[in-house]
Parts: sequence; C-alpha cells; structure tokens
Amino acid sequence: MAGQATAQRGKHGFAMPRVPKILIYIVGFVPAVVLFYLGVNDQLGADPMRYLEQSLGLWALRFLIATLAITPLRQILNINLLRYRRAIGLLCFYYAALHLLTYVVLDQGFDFEAIWTDIVKRPYITIGMATFIVLTPLAVTSNNAAIRRLGGQVWARIHRLVYIAAIGAALHFLLVVKSWPPEPMVYAAIVASLLGYRFVRSLVKRSMPKRRAA
Ligand code: HEM
Repeated sequence: MAGQATAQRGKHGFAMPRVPKILIYIVGFVPAVVLFYLGVNDQLGADPMRYLEQSLGLWALRFLIATLAITPLRQILNINLLRYRRAIGLLCFYYAALHLLTYVVLDQGFDFEAIWTDIVKRPYITIGMATFIVLTPLAVTSNNAAIRRLGGQVWARIHRLVYIAAIGAALHFLLVVKSWPPEPMVYAAIVASLLGYRFVRSLVKRSMPKRRAA
C-alpha cells in the first residue's frame, strides 16, 4: 500500500515509518503467543499459573502506559504515533481480559464464591476488577461508529477514564506485593509522570488566555 509505505517526517527531521495497524496487533500479541507456547510446553517455571497471570497483567499495564505516552511523545519529541493509539489501547484491554480469564479459570477454577470473597476481602483484587470495569467502556467505544454515535465531546469525556484506569492499574500492582520491591514503584512513577505531565499542561493551557488578556 503506497500510503502505508510512506514516512512521516517530524518537525526536527525525524522520519517515522508508517506501518499497517494490523502489524501493531500482530507484534502486540507476540508475548501472549510466547507465554501460551511456553505454558503448553511446561516451561513457565515452578508456578506456571502465577507466572502466566502476572505476565499478562504486566503486559496490560505496559500497553496502558504506551497508550498514555503517545500524546507526550507527539508534543515533546514530535513523534506522531496517534494512528496506532487505538490498537495499543485495545491491546491493553485484551491483555487485561486474558489476565482476568487466567484468574477466573486457572487461579480460581470458576469458583465464583471464592472470587466474590476475593473481591470483597483483597483490596488489590477490588481495584483490579474496578480497573477492568473502567477499561471496558473505553474498549467498547474504540471504533469509528461509537465516535459518530456519541459525538466527539462525549466520546472524549468517556475516554478520560483512561486516567482513572492508569491510577487503578498502578495501585493494583503496588498492592499485589506486600513488601516494596522496585518494579511496581517504577511503573507507578511512570504512570504518575505521564498523568502529571497532562495535569501541568492543562494548567498552563488554562492560564494562557488570562495572561494574554492581562
Ligand atoms: C480484572 C480484574 C483483575 C483481577 C482479578 C486481577 C488479579 C490479579 C492477580 C491474582 C494477580 C497476581 C497476584 C500474585 O502474584 O499473587 C495480579 C497481578 C497483576 N495485575 Fe491484575 N487483576 C485484574 C486486573 C488488572 C488490570 C486491569 C491490570 C492492568 C491494566 C492488572 C495488572 C496487574 C499487574 C501489573 C500485576 C502484577 C504482575 C507482577 O507481579 O509482575 N490487573 N492481578
């Protein structure tokens, strides 16, 4: 395809190759396929179920962070990956759904009473579930038909839920471990920086017309 083969040149001369969106999904699912392959061949270590569950959760968080990073990448470094944001956001949802499926099927063996007890008694499960619920309308409305039906403003308002989801996912990870290993803190710091950047930028933007008027 000629359009997809072209390169987008940024303001600072950085050439971004345009790749077909399907490639994002194919590459995005590689970790899931590798995990599945290793699982089938009994190569996921001493506790394969836990390893699978944790890895899928971690990939969901990574894709969520990648989705949030797209705007600052464009605004600060002039790297425009906007056309891939939907695919990356959906990958986050698919990994979160696989993570939930692993929990329901392999971890809890469809024991819905035990799952309900977990949701009520374990804050990290409560937050994980809440985060998944928040991610669901984002995934369901990540298509052109939903944008047309809802209108741009409502759609954009719904998609601000991604900030809540990011806080929920980072908190969920922090609460999974009872001690304070560096990994969840690094992820929480990345989420905090990405949200902090947006917050500061919106404050600056809001103060601009006032300054001009003054
Ligand atoms: C849908 C409801 C969810 C449930 C029931 C759930 C449950 C779990 C469980 C049982 C673990 C493993 C805890 C352990 O190691 O003992 C875990 C870990 C984790 N989950 Fe979730 N989770 C949910 C949603 C999410 C979502 C939406 C995200 C991210 C977007 C996420 C990200 C993670 C991460 C990053 C870990 C830690 C991985 C690691 O230890 O390396 N989870 N979750």
